[in-house]
Amino acid sequence: MKAIYAGSFDPVTLGHLDLIRRASFLFDEVVVAVLNNPNKHCLFDAEERKHHLELVTKDLENVSVATFSGLLAEFAAQIGATVAIRGLRNVVDFASEYQMHVINHQLNPQIETVFLAADREHIALSSTNVKEVATFGGSIHGMVPEEIEPFIIEKYKK
Ligand code: PNS
Repeated sequence: MKAIYAGSFDPVTLGHLDLIRRASFLFDEVVVAVLNNPNKHCLFDAEERKHHLELVTKDLENVSVATFSGLLAEFAAQIGATVAIRGLRNVVDFASEYQMHVINHQLNPQIETVFLAADREHIALSSTNVKEVATFGGSIHGMVPEEIEPFIIEKYKK
């Protein structure tokens, strides 16, 4: 079974990576899909985010990385994925994720959302929090994969 794990990944966090690893055990193939949304200001462009994800998933043979724009439901159909992976950290996530599941399922009834519970180490972790800490020069060690840390620090030097 082929699963898609879509997101902004701006930047990829250790929480994302944990979900990718766990999904790679559960499914035959996992496509990590980076949303390329020109209307949203991102720290890294879609190609940079794709590159970061490729670096941190290179040991996972059944994981590949792609960029997409438009609807997740349509991209999933294009690549033949029937499962959408989403992570849940808390009830606030659940409320919005459940709505997203309903819309995605309406747009593409072939797609089932599988929610993976975030590891307790990652329940306070988000890309937004990482950027907030990095903006003010705080340590992001333990929040993002080590290989990615220099890219983030470099962005905030400019
Ligand atoms: O990492 P994020 O930002 O929480 O990921 C959100 C994402 C990219 C999965 C979601 O915004 C998305 O699927 N966007 C594409 C447009 C779409 O299909 N929206 C779903 C209908 S509500």
